[in-house]
This record gives sequence, C-alpha cells and structure tokens, in this order.
Amino acid sequence: MDLTSLEQRATAELAACADEAALRAWNTTYFGKQGEVVQAVAKLKEVPPAEKPAYSKEVNRIKVALAAAYEAALAQVKEKTLEQSLTQHALDVTLPGRRAPRGRLHVATKVMREIRAIFADMGFQVYRSREVEDDRTNFELLNMPPHHPARDMWDTFHTTTPGVILRTHTSPGQIHVMRQFAPNPVRAVLPGMCYRHEAVSTRSEIQFEQVEGLAIGPNVTMADLKGTITAFARRLFGEDRQVRIRSSYFPFTEPSIEVDIDWPKDDPNADRLTKGTGWLEIMGAGMVHPTVLRNGGYDPEKVSGFAFGMGPQRIAMLLHAIDDIRLFWQNDLRFLQQF
Ligand code: PHE
Repeated sequence: MDLTSLEQRATAELAACADEAALRAWNTTYFGKQGEVVQAVAKLKEVPPAEKPAYSKEVNRIKVALAAAYEAALAQVKEKTLEQSLTQHALDVTLPGRRAPRGRLHVATKVMREIRAIFADMGFQVYRSREVEDDRTNFELLNMPPHHPARDMWDTFHTTTPGVILRTHTSPGQIHVMRQFAPNPVRAVLPGMCYRHEAVSTRSEIQFEQVEGLAIGPNVTMADLKGTITAFARRLFGEDRQVRIRSSYFPFTEPSIEVDIDWPKDDPNADRLTKGTGWLEIMGAGMVHPTVLRNGGYDPEKVSGFAFGMGPQRIAMLLHAIDDIRLFWQNDLRFLQQF
C-alpha cells in the first residue's frame, strides 16, 4: 500500500471539495466503513513484522492528519454558509418592530357604558337578565295573555321547545327584578340583547340592545319618571335639552308615554334626525301597570313604579350619525375603527 500517494490524493481531493455535501462524500470515501484510510489501517496485519512499526506510525500520522484536515475544512465551509446566509438574508435589527394592532371598545359598548354610568349616578343598579325567556315572562306576566293583539308589536323567535323564546325586549327583566326585591323599593337598569324576527334593513336588525329601567317604591310618580329621563337626556345629549312627552300605549304600563328630546336647530343633521320636527324619539316608558306590579310580588295599593325602555343602538346612531343599523354587528373594521 502506497501511503504517500494515498495521503496526496486524499489531501488534493479534500482541497477540491466545494461544499459540505462534497466534504461528507469525501469523508465516506476515506473514513467510511470501507474507507481507504480505514483499509490502510487494517492492512497492518499483512505487513511483514520488520516493517510493522514504521508502517503503523506512518498510517496513524496520515489518519490523524487527514481527520484534522477534514474537520478544519468542514468548519470553514459551515462558517462560509453562515456568512452567506447572513449577507443574503440580511436582517436589519434597527428597523422598528411591527406594531400589534391595538384593540378598542366597540361603539355599542362605549355608548352602553355611558348610559349605565349616568343611571349609576342616579342610584340605579345594573341587573343582568336572561336572553332566552319563556313566553310567560316575556308576555303574559307583562299583561299580555296569549292572543293579546299587542303581542303583534313584537315579532318573536320561538325555539323548538314550546313556550321558550328569545326575549323580544328587556321588559321581562322587570319581572325578575321585582320577584327578587319585592316588597322592597328598587331602582335598576337592565341592559342586554333582544331579538326580533324582523326583515333586516338599515333601520331594523334581528338583534339589538335595549336598556330597561325600573324604579319602584312608595309614591313614585310620573314626575319622578320625567325628572329621571330629563336628567339622563341632558347628561347624554347636552345640558339644555328639552324633554317632550307624548301619550302612547304599552300593555305593561299605564299611563304609557313616548319620550322625545329636542334637537338643536343649528345642527346640520337636525332635519335628518328629527324628520323635520325638531324632536327626536328616544324611548318608550310609563307607570308600571298594577297587574304587572302584582305579578312581580308588589302590592299596587302600597307602591307604584315607573319603567322605561330605550335602544342604545338608536342612540349611538344619533350621537355618531350612523345611518345603517346593520353596521353594528358586521365586524367591519373600517366601521369599528372610527370610534
Ligand atoms: N319594552 C318596550 C319595547 O320594547 C319599551 C318599554 C319599556 C315601554 C318599558 C314601556 C316601559 O318597545
């Protein structure tokens, strides 16, 4: 075996390796199981005893030298690859990072919070009431027996369970509040989602929020209702708002009213918002019907109460000149980011 030529050939071939794959192939050729260096070492057995020490010494020197050369070449190639990837896929660490998009409150949430805060200041607690209701609480206990024509005011989503419906207004919450607090006086607002089986349009959605209000106690009068609503309207819309009360009808209040507030004539939106009248409707309300008080566990001879119900989406539309109610639940960022 010609060790000198083996070393020369291996060294030359190693020098010619251009990349890591070539180096690994070289390593197999010389140091693999059948590799030439490995075989040269094995040959020691066949060498005549006199030459053994010299051969052994030389083959080991070559083995160690080639192995070291290989490691060095491999390290160099890896270094070069890293350097290349660093320059080719350069990363400018001085660039500012990508901003995480900042969330914000939904416009409906903001308006709802404003409304709740105003009533909280007037001593109304917030009461949460269920969205899935029974027919009894949504209608009957509110003085609307089955087949009562007033039920037509609320197109209802029924479930497959008879008598279980999605609430069409927050008024059934009045019953829950009364039954929890009777015979004690109570002041509460009940915000939440309502559902109506209506054709969706720019003005009506199948789901929308309402805020119900309820105050019960000895000698609660229409004057209290008027004062509460006026204070609320002035906090929300401006100090010098006038409140106008029109007679109306709801089965669960008697008398029943609808409430308008005046809108400044110099507001460019005044005509659109008030349909030219200068007055804007914000809620239905009235004095709680004696039958409803009784259904809630109160004695109508001893206490009286007022209730109101308003639509915060409607109020948000007025406050922000939003002209399509469907925008509220469409999750369109172009809309949501404006608030
Ligand atoms: N629940 C009524 C509606 O949805 C509003 C209302 C509430 C009226 C309370 C009077 C008293 O139209």
